[in-house]
Amino acid sequence: MTFKKICKITDVQDNSMSLFNVDGKEITVGKHNGKLFACAAYCPHKSAYLYHGWFSNNNIVCPRHNYEFDLSSGKLVKMTSWKENHPTWIEQDPNWRKAGDLTIYQVKVSNGYVLVDLP
Ligand code: FES
Repeated sequence: MTFKKICKITDVQDNSMSLFNVDGKEITVGKHNGKLFACAAYCPHKSAYLYHGWFSNNNIVCPRHNYEFDLSSGKLVKMTSWKENHPTWIEQDPNWRKAGDLTIYQVKVSNGYVLVDLP
């Protein structure tokens, strides 16, 4: 395990998330309902920045097409229909909707700093 120092714990407000750059690698770090989390910077669907998204229950919601990923496991748990919001939109390619799960990193606090286990 290689835990890297990300920021001070006081830099992370509850129910928020930010983009951090660690040794040239971008990651999302935030806190939801008092629980710290760290995950990939980009959505596994079409690579939108996730820190522009929001929370729904225990999920992080991608701002581009509203897919939801469980913050504990990274599992893709909801694919909100783009058509619900854009009724005239026609899906051209059935593969377009496919997405993997979100990479979740282990996170801990030590001496007032947030540390993330980066591969
Ligand atoms: S880019 Fe995130 S849901 Fe499409």
